[in-house]
Formats: sequence, structure tokens, C-alpha cells
Amino acid sequence: MQNIWDTRYAQEEYIYGKQANTFLKEQISLHSPGKALFPAEGEGRNAVFAATRGWEVNAFDSSFEAKNKAEKLALEKSVQINYNTIDWENVQYENNCFDLIVLIYAHTQNRQQNHQKLIKFLKPGGIILLEGFTKEQLQYNTGGPKRIELLFSKREIQSDFAQLSEMKIREEIIFLAEGELHKGNASVIRMIGKK
Ligand SMILES: C[S@@+](CC[C@H](N)C(=O)[O-])C[C@H]1O[C@@H](n2cnc3c(N)ncnc32)[C@H](O)[C@@H]1O
Repeated sequence: MQNIWDTRYAQEEYIYGKQANTFLKEQISLHSPGKALFPAEGEGRNAVFAATRGWEVNAFDSSFEAKNKAEKLALEKSVQINYNTIDWENVQYENNCFDLIVLIYAHTQNRQQNHQKLIKFLKPGGIILLEGFTKEQLQYNTGGPKRIELLFSKREIQSDFAQLSEMKIREEIIFLAEGELHKGNASVIRMIGKK
């Protein structure tokens, strides 16, 4: 089924660029490669980066075009990723199977259920990394959903991932340069938590 993301991703250009997100690049280098999951991964910039660093990468997104572009990028970088076209609400993995789960601008409906679902897929000791827009991002015209309920608050993220320990969470204004759709000063939340 064609969705709005298929239409956006149908162009040749990578709308968020081919470079991985900065927070992911900083954080992933602190961990030994293992098995990682990238939900709502879009055109694959983050998943492919992790694969080039030796991670065994699984990713999913509801958009067919997202998978096409991610697999093309993987080929370009000579790495393999296992990418499924499926809705978050239907995705299933084995319990306790990932060392790392990476949520980069993974703004979806059913936020709380989708976030909490991921925790059971994470190994004990595994890490979840998240970067997304805060509700204050509505004041900036630099990317992200325009519907406030799709944006994050610190309290929502703390509550969604309350089962995690060693939680580090901060709100920041950062300069984004991630393709045409994430460009300029932006209000984001960055979280790291351990199961
Ligand atoms: C802002 S893009 C982020 C893409 C990628 N994480 C990145 O940072 O480049 C949001 C993505 O979420 C996906 N998405 C939205 N709702 C979804 C759902 N319910 N299940 C799976 N993917 C979903 C969209 O198809 C889109 O690719």
C-alpha cells in the first residue's frame, strides 16, 4: 500500500541524506558491535552506518520505498542489512535478542505502545538510544511532525522507558544538517537507557 512516506522517498535523493545521525555516531562507537535493531529506519542512513562498523543490523519501516533506498545504500557501502517492510504495531522479534535498539526521529502514532514493545526484544544489559523532536519543535520550521501528539516530551519518554536503568535523558537545541527535511536549529530530546 502506498503511504505518504513512499511518496517522499520515491525521489532519487535521500531526503535525510546518506550520513548517519550525529548522536548515533557518537554513541555507537562506545559499544562493541553486536546485534542491532533500527525501527522506522527510513532510507537506511543509520542502519547502514552501523553495518559498516561491524554491527549485525535489522531494520524495519512501513514504507516499501524506504526499504528499496536502504538496500541501495547498503549495496553502495558494500554491507548487508536485514530490512523488513512492516508496521511497528505488527513487527515481532525474539525476546531478549538485540544488544542495541536505535530510535532516530522515529515519530509514530501509538508512541507509548510502540516504545514499550521494544523493551522485550532487548537483551538484559542491552541499550536503547533515542533522538527525536520535542513538542517545542513546533516553534521551529526545521523538520518533524506538525502534530503535537507525535512529538515527544521528556516526561513521556521517561515514562515509556521507565523499565530501563541508567537512564540519561536531556533536551537540547541542536543544529541539524540532515538532508532537506532536517535543516537548522531544532529542539530535540536524546535518551540512553539500559535494560
Ligand atoms: C522522520 S522518518 C525517520 C527515518 C529514519 N529513522 C531517519 O532518521 O533517517 C520517520 C519514519 O517512520 C516511519 N513510520 C511511521 N510510522 C510507522 C509505523 N507505524 N511503523 C513503521 N514505520 C513507521 C516512516 O515510514 C518514516 O520512514
